[in-house]
Amino acid sequence: MEQILHPDTVALDESGHAIVIIDQTLLPASLTLISLKTREEFFDAIATLKVRGAPAIGVTAAMAYYLMAWRHVADCPGIPFSELSSRLEEDRAYLAKSRPTAVNLFWALDRMKQVLQHCSPFSGSEILERLRSECFAIRDEDIRVCRAIGEHGLALLHPGDGVLTHCNAGRLATVRYGTALAPVYLAEERGFSLKVYSDETRPLLQGARLTCTELSASGVDVTLLCDGMSGSLMRSGAVQIIFVGADRIAANGDVVNKIGTSVLACAAKRYGIPFYVCAPTSTIDMDCPTGSEIPIEQRAPEEVTSLWYEKRMAPEGIGVYNPAFDITDSDLITGVITENGILRPPFAEGLAKLFVEKRKQ
Ligand code: MRU
Repeated sequence: MEQILHPDTVALDESGHAIVIIDQTLLPASLTLISLKTREEFFDAIATLKVRGAPAIGVTAAMAYYLMAWRHVADCPGIPFSELSSRLEEDRAYLAKSRPTAVNLFWALDRMKQVLQHCSPFSGSEILERLRSECFAIRDEDIRVCRAIGEHGLALLHPGDGVLTHCNAGRLATVRYGTALAPVYLAEERGFSLKVYSDETRPLLQGARLTCTELSASGVDVTLLCDGMSGSLMRSGAVQIIFVGADRIAANGDVVNKIGTSVLACAAKRYGIPFYVCAPTSTIDMDCPTGSEIPIEQRAPEEVTSLWYEKRMAPEGIGVYNPAFDITDSDLITGVITENGILRPPFAEGLAKLFVEKRKQ
């Protein structure tokens, strides 16, 4: 399992013609690398959460776009630019339907499309070279950005602190380091230890299966709890700070993240525990004024009634409420940690200023 520490979560294989990922649905029982070559395989891997977590979905989508272009050029050498563009537009629209909430999917596909739009004077191989370097740029940015988030988050920590987290916003959700777990990894690197508490994160158990696996494989002291136990843990005084990730952040600072995050934020406010959201600026969607405009993925009832059980654990025919994400209102959030630093309320002003500065760069 130590291997989990070494490969990038999303990578191109040696041939450069397939994406290699860890199939996260099989963790922790088995560490299985799978290779994705076709657009149906890219779609399935994202839709079924073989690869998941907003930044890792974005990098996968960027590499998938490049490989779909490579396939069209390989199948039809000398393909006219207009034909390549229209085929890739169809591929982009198809892949964009794989998951609705994490904005990094759309952000990465749009970045790749923008590169393509400037490629009309070039040959097929020159176009592929440009798309390949853009998907690698997106990957490299993810690594740099997560490390920067880690540095900013680390400044909030003290040796021995209890850190509570939800879902998996660790290295398995990005290329390396993670967002919410990046400060924890950097603390370990600098030789000071923390006590991490991981919500199991019903119904898909990303906390139990992924966060506990990657942290314990890295030697981090991690304790698992059921989601409903977090209030009791906070009241006990064991938690000094909460770090979570985000799938999309609205312009007013509302945060959409894994279902259960908002409950954690409410309890944190009650117990006076700082609640930080760690996310790259690519997860901020200034086109969504508030969290209410962000589409929330609804998933199959079986994830709640039967997925992990030998026998079904709910009566047949029972109605099931299973949204994959919830909205944490911005007034419950202490700070948003991006690669640019820590934003504090009022978030609407801070986010608007951040984007004005980014556009100047
Ligand atoms: O459904 P998932 O597993 O893709 O949900 C993941 C999360 O909610 C993460 O917290 C979020 O994507 C941030 S990952 C750095």
